Order: sequence, then structure tokens, then C-alpha cells
Amino acid sequence: MACGFRRAIACQLSRVLNLPPENLITSISAVPISQKEEVADFQLSVDSLLEKDNDHSRPDIQVQAKRLAEKLRCDTVVSEISTGQRTVNFKINRELLTKTVLQQVIEDGSKYGLKSELFSGLPQKKIVVEFSSPNVAKKFHVGHLRSTIIGNFIANLKEALGHQVIRINYLGDWGMQFGLLGTGFQLFGYEEKLQSNPLQHLFEVYVQVNKEAADDKSVAKAAQEFFQRLELGDVQALSLWQKFRDLSIEEYIRVYKRLGVYFDEYSGESFYREKSQEVLKLLESKGLLLKTIKGTAVVDLSGNGDPSSICTVMRSDGTSLYATRDLAAAIDRMDKYNFDTMIYVTDKGQEKHFQQVFQMLKIMGYDWAERCQHVPFGVVQGMKTRRGDVTFLEDVLNEIQLRMLQNMASIKTTKELKNPQETAERVGLAALIIQDFKGLLLSDYKFSWDRVFQSRGDTGVFLQYTHARLHRFDEVLYKSSQDFQPRHIVSYLLTLSHLAAVAHKTLQIKDSPPEVAGARLHLFKAVRSVLANGMKLLGITPMEFRSCCPGWSAMV
Ligand code: ARG
Repeated sequence: MACGFRRAIACQLSRVLNLPPENLITSISAVPISQKEEVADFQLSVDSLLEKDNDHSRPDIQVQAKRLAEKLRCDTVVSEISTGQRTVNFKINRELLTKTVLQQVIEDGSKYGLKSELFSGLPQKKIVVEFSSPNVAKKFHVGHLRSTIIGNFIANLKEALGHQVIRINYLGDWGMQFGLLGTGFQLFGYEEKLQSNPLQHLFEVYVQVNKEAADDKSVAKAAQEFFQRLELGDVQALSLWQKFRDLSIEEYIRVYKRLGVYFDEYSGESFYREKSQEVLKLLESKGLLLKTIKGTAVVDLSGNGDPSSICTVMRSDGTSLYATRDLAAAIDRMDKYNFDTMIYVTDKGQEKHFQQVFQMLKIMGYDWAERCQHVPFGVVQGMKTRRGDVTFLEDVLNEIQLRMLQNMASIKTTKELKNPQETAERVGLAALIIQDFKGLLLSDYKFSWDRVFQSRGDTGVFLQYTHARLHRFDEVLYKSSQDFQPRHIVSYLLTLSHLAAVAHKTLQIKDSPPEVAGARLHLFKAVRSVLANGMKLLGITPMEFRSCCPGWSAMV
């Protein structure tokens, strides 16, 4: 059953305005809650209505709103109609609202909010989301961490909305670093260390060989030669490279699992070595490839030689670059998946890179370049663990776990936890994700563990708004699905948690008459279900109360 209060309002309006209800639904929105005054539940924006109308004479909006309100009638659903600032406001029959919302939350379960009329008629799409994409043997820095949790959120949300999602991890698994790594491993690598802790060992080798190569020209030369051998397809060199890659991926999978993240495809720059050459040929055949005096080749995106819009796509030795490989990868994914949308999640430092890639695809004649989208995020400074700067994702996870365990230990818990490590990790991860998702993704911020684990201030929102808050979950999902910003969902969930905490204190279940107890239980079940849905979308695994810490409530 679709509760469809918005639809009920839209149907009334449709009769008066002679417009199909479908066109009206997105002009109707939930009214923000105010603690100071009683407000309506929904409002119709008259401005947005007029945008849909071709009549451009635009008489006074307020007069329009009044006239419209006079023509509408209260019914079993709408109990009050009034006008606000350029809006017509609607109040819903309280009893009906409470009952319907609770019933719907329970009935729709994990689909609550997603079955809303806001999403109806949304065509099912095929969506590629590329995220995380660390570089083998290099640091897994906080930018990769953000890409991982943001990309996971976007993929979760799209999937929940019924789209087919393909999650791709595009590894930095090619380039000079493998020349260095190959040489370094031959000089001071250990097979056992590689097998037992590949990411750590490869990183150590990489750091060491970099140092050596800076002092010793012969090491640098050997590295160059090793990379050349890779580029030329030397079997021995390639098999070592393959081993580095395979072992690293195995380890990544294990660590991503702790985050609840998975990928459908582990792709990487190495896949596009040969295909990049085809891209270069294609660019050449279209007359888009310009050779420079240095022997490199560029594409001039402005068409007038503006140096800021020139993109280098070939080195002087004929090999490809990052951008060339991205062109090849995009074309390949289109062939393979025929996607409707492709989303790349990286920090904003790569904004220009993606703009250039998309533009090059366009001038190459690929109209689907418009389906590619870059979701950028801001830079986070100062994330440190006990081992220093973040080098491995696993370090961050261990740090979160440890800090949360300490937090839990500082609170006098009476009972022992069955699985304190896991509990600490899950709760700590939730803390990390929420502090990151609170703001606009594009904003930079300075990382602090205190910010992650701060105790929460109470917003003191009133209990009687709970049902109304619940009712607006679909709009929050809708907003996030429009701009990919998780903060809409985050602030909603936090407010709901506060409300639930207030409700929990006031609305006792124990010692209440059975029908009251039943109704209250119903309410809490509904709250829990919505919290779980929201958290899962964000990439947080909801905790079962049984397994979580008894003194937990003291921390929130
Ligand atoms: N490996 C890259 C880095 O660490 C990110 C890759 C982003 N994706 C892409 N298709 N270029 O910066």
C-alpha cells in the first residue's frame, strides 16, 4: 500500500488545476519541523507550479496561492488548508497520518521510503560506479578511504532505488612504480613476507627502492629496464607483476570486507595498456592527435591552442598516460556494460582530469560522454594513526577498533561483551562514516579523532514530531539520490535517534496497558527499521542490541 499523502494532495490539485497529478508531486514537499510553532505537514510551492505552466504573465504569487487554496476542500486525508509565503499548506488528519505511517514502515520493511511516489515512474538504469581505486604498492591514503565509503554509499543508494549497479575498483596497477617494485623485489624482497603480508611488504620494498634509486643511478636504470620489459610483455617480468597484483587484491578484499564493501570487478590501468594504443590511433585518424616538438602527443580541447585545455595523451616513447588509459577504460566499459550512467568518485584534485577525459570522449564522437559523471569530494588533512600517517586501510580500521574499545572500557559496563572487537569496530566505523558524511562532500576538513568519537549534544526535539519525521524519509532519500550527498540521510537519522531516545524515556512499554504497550512497541519497531535502512545505505552495519555494549546508552 502506498501511503501517498503527496499523491492525495496532488489528486485534489489536479482537479482544480487541470494538470496530471504526476506533474504536481515534486512541487509538494514536507514542511521543515519547527519547535516553536505548529506547522503544516506539506506545502505546495506555487513558484514551482508556475514553472510548469506556460503562462508567463505571472500574476502576484500570493494572490494565486490564496485563490488556489480557496478552491481546495478538506477531506478525509487533508484536515486543514492554509497559505504561507508563496505556498499552499496542508495539514494531514493526525490519526490517519500516525496510523498510515507506522503501518507503512512495518509493511514496507527494508523498502520503506523507496516505494514512495517520489520515485515512481523512475526508469531502471544500468549504473557503473567506480570507486576506491588505490594504487598497488603505494599508500592507501585518506582520499582512497573517502572514495571507498562515498562510492559505496552511492552504489547502495542506486541499488536500493532499483537500478542495476556495477561496482568497479580501478586499481593503479601499472606504471613506473612497477619497474621500481620489480627491481626492488629482486634486490631486497622476501617471498615469505610477500605471501604473509603483501601490502606491507610491497610498500616497504617500494619505499626502499625509491631511496636507492635516488642515490644509485644503476638502480634507477634497472627499474626503467624492468618497466620496459613489462611494457613489451616479457613473461617473467609479467608473472612477478601478476603475483604482486593478485596478492594485493586478495588482501584488499579481506580488508574491504571489514568495511562491508565489495566490488563486482577489480579492473585497473594495466588492462588498458594495449587498448590505449588503439585510442591513440583513433585520435590520430580523427585528426585530433597533435605531436609536439618534444615527441609527445596532445589533444587540444579548446581548438585554439589554449595551454590550459591541452591534454597530453602520449609520452615521447609512445606509451600511454593516465588520461589515455581512462579514455580506453570508458570506451571499454561502454562496450561491456552499455551503461546509462557512469560515476567516478575521487577527490576534487582530479576534477580537471575527468572534465578533460569526458570532453575528449565527446569530441571523439561518443555522445554517451554525457552519461559520465565525476563526483568529487574535499581533502581531509591530518588523519594519523599510531603508526603515523595513514598508509594502509587496515591501519585505520585497527585504530578505530582500538579507540572504540578504549571508549567502551572507560564506561562502566556491567556485563562482558560477547564480541567486543567486532562491536567496537562496527560502532567505531559508524562514528567515522557519520562525521565524514555530515558536511558537504566537497568541503575540506581537518581530521580529528575527537570529532569522530565526540559525545553527541542533544538536539532536544520533541517527541510528538516523531511520526512526522518518520514520514519524511522518502524525501531525504530523494534529495540524496539527486545530489549524492549523504548528509541529508545522516542528519535525518541522527534527529530520529534523538527523538527515539526521548520517546524511549517517556513512552514506557513495561507496566503500560496492553494496547498502549502494543502501539508503543509498534512505534519503536518502525523507528528501528528506518534507522537500519538508512544505516545500511550509508554502509554501516546495524548492531543487534543483544550483542552491543550494555553501557552503550551512556555514550550517546
Ligand atoms: N588510482 C587513482 C589515484 O589513486 C584513482 C583512480 C581514479 N579513477 C580513474 N578512472 N581515473 O589517484
